[in-house]
Amino acid sequence: MSGGGGDRPARHVLLTGASSGIGAETARHLVADGHRVSLFVRRAELLAALVGELGGLASAWTGDVTRRDDLASGLRAAELRHGAIDTLVYSAGSARFHSVEETSPEEWRELMGANLDGLFHALQLSLPSLLASGRGHVIVVLSVASRQVFGHSAGYTAAKHAAIGLVDSFRTEVRARGVHVTAVLPGAVDTPLWDAIGGEWNRAQMMQPEQVARVIRSVLRDRSSGMLEEIRVGPICGAL
Ligand SMILES: NC(=O)c1ccc[n+]([C@@H]2O[C@H](COP(=O)([O-])OP(=O)(O)OC[C@H]3O[C@@H](n4cnc5c(N)ncnc54)[C@H](OP(=O)(O)O)[C@@H]3O)[C@@H](O)[C@H]2O)c1
Repeated sequence: MSGGGGDRPARHVLLTGASSGIGAETARHLVADGHRVSLFVRRAELLAALVGELGGLASAWTGDVTRRDDLASGLRAAELRHGAIDTLVYSAGSARFHSVEETSPEEWRELMGANLDGLFHALQLSLPSLLASGRGHVIVVLSVASRQVFGHSAGYTAAKHAAIGLVDSFRTEVRARGVHVTAVLPGAVDTPLWDAIGGEWNRAQMMQPEQVARVIRSVLRDRSSGMLEEIRVGPICGAL
């Protein structure tokens, strides 16, 4: 099937975190390039309008990435509908900025769940299809906090550092089998993620989610120069 921007083949992308922010913009950009997208999030009500906007190339499946069975059922349903996936874009995640002293056990678990546990499930469950496709690609939206330590963000920094360790390790396992693995590390992006975070932030200086979506789209558009392993993209003004 053609599409994928120009004469590149269209893909079937399992996209987590698509109800909001970076994930929702990524869905728009990938569909505009002719890819089929299977969107996976918890809040089905947020997806109805997006799926309507995107048309027949998009389908929505609901569940929690931290529940392995939800993800397995979503993947099965997506593959029945659109054929086997050859691409995973993982953009599910949550953020809270607290010190170790301030972080409750529930908050710790939530941060590890969406940012790390769900990523592990998604990588493991999608791998057979990615390998079988012969052109598998995984793009994981991580954070500058995967490489850099920020104060008062113990759980988020720990989860994102662990997640990039998982992604780097996974890449060494699958690259010789033809699967590309790209980590995208954005700085601050003005998305609803910040609504749940207290404090004063200059959201006007943050990037817009479509800027990250364009980076993700470009990774899939051009795989000819070798494997893009890690991409950092930040606001022009630097860290906020
Ligand atoms: N915004 C930034 O400044 C920034 C900077 C660097 C990195 N990032 C990273 O980029 C990713 C996307 O963030 P965003 O800014 O786009 O945030 P967002 O607008 O809050 O979107 C987060 C998405 O993750 C989904 N999600 C969260 N927990 C989930 C769970 N347990 N199961 C299934 N889906 C879940 C949410 O959907 P439901 O709630 O409907 O499930 C939502 O679609 C995150 O990993 C974040 O850490 C963001």
